[in-house]
Amino acid sequence: MHWKALALALLLENGSSQRTSMPMMRFECSQLVIDRIDPLVTPGSVPAPHLHQIVGGNSFNASMDPATHDLPTASTCTSCTFSDDFSNYWTAVLFFRARNGTFQRVPQFVSAGLKGIGGITVYYIAPYDGKTKVTAFKPGFRMLIGDAASDKPGKDPKVCHRCMPKSGEGTGVECAASGPDSQTLPKSPCAGGIRSVITFPTCWDGKNLDSPDHKSHVVYPTSGTFDNNGACPSTHPVKIPQVMYEVMWQTQIYNDKNLWPADGSQPFVWSTTDTRGYSQHGDYVFGWKGDALQRALDARCNGDVCKQINTQSAEEATKCTIGRVVKEDIDGWLPHLPGMPIAS
Ligand SMILES: *[C@@H]1O[C@H](CO)[C@@H](O)[C@H](O)[C@H]1NC(C)=O
Ligand SMILES: *[C@@H]1O[C@H](CO)[C@@H](O)[C@H](O)[C@H]1NC(C)=O
Repeated sequence: MHWKALALALLLENGSSQRTSMPMMRFECSQLVIDRIDPLVTPGSVPAPHLHQIVGGNSFNASMDPATHDLPTASTCTSCTFSDDFSNYWTAVLFFRARNGTFQRVPQFVSAGLKGIGGITVYYIAPYDGKTKVTAFKPGFRMLIGDAASDKPGKDPKVCHRCMPKSGEGTGVECAASGPDSQTLPKSPCAGGIRSVITFPTCWDGKNLDSPDHKSHVVYPTSGTFDNNGACPSTHPVKIPQVMYEVMWQTQIYNDKNLWPADGSQPFVWSTTDTRGYSQHGDYVFGWKGDALQRALDARCNGDVCKQINTQSAEEATKCTIGRVVKEDIDGWLPHLPGMPIAS
């Protein structure tokens, strides 16, 4: 999502004209590694059940014990433009399944207006009224949305896909019930690829840095939308910034219908083996240095420029990578998805 385009979309939806611009932090975090580990859901497990693409600080590893693992001190670089951000962000990985049953990992590309190598475009958004204070996360804070095991429409309508037009991003607020986005993967070829958007809850219970399901300590506003300063429930009274991921998948390279299944179904599959699209998920482990995130939010920093915090060039950011822990082929034509049984 380009922030200028978002402004337009919201104005159209609300019929309101009180805002002409909505500052929000929007920046590129290039690929750190693609690996089969998951320190939030299966800490210590090498390998984890399915493949993830991970961005952010290079202290990312399979364990990341919240009691001892301090991301800003354990990291020596980050793949994000804002170099005070050593957080880790990860999602499932998209594959293309050929007619002969083999899989190929779909390449990613960088979102409009940004530089780097396709990882995740990260947003931190404050309510658009320009004055409501949001409280930055505390060290040790983690959360997860989406459900890797889901094969039906889940409780997370904020995890969605857009079939991108050849240019621009089309109209409509991402993940809005009115469309054009869907929880399912698009059913037809998309001229501009597929955009996966993951928007986290914005109300925190104010006490727990995590919860057993990694979800219950945060909720969405009870009424209205966060952007328009919707109210938080009394159980989760603290307004936190809206963290949003945007991931661009270069599915255009497979748009030749002769490559698609003969039965007319769509050929893309998440690394969980889900062909419908309900299992995409986003994981977040907070790791900003000191009070850098709070300073950026208070200053209502916009886009990927923020003089209140440290920034690095896209060239520097893309240099920050780590080696894969699980040694397996993820780049050829694979007989099965990493970690998954061979399809019958
Ligand atoms: C992860 O990193 C922490 C802190 O750097 C380290 O103590 C721990 O041993 C690492 N764990 C793994 C599984 O590499
Ligand atoms: C399967 O199909 C892909 C895409 O057409 C092709 O590149 C690959 O070589 C095929 N693999 C086998 C084992 O036939």
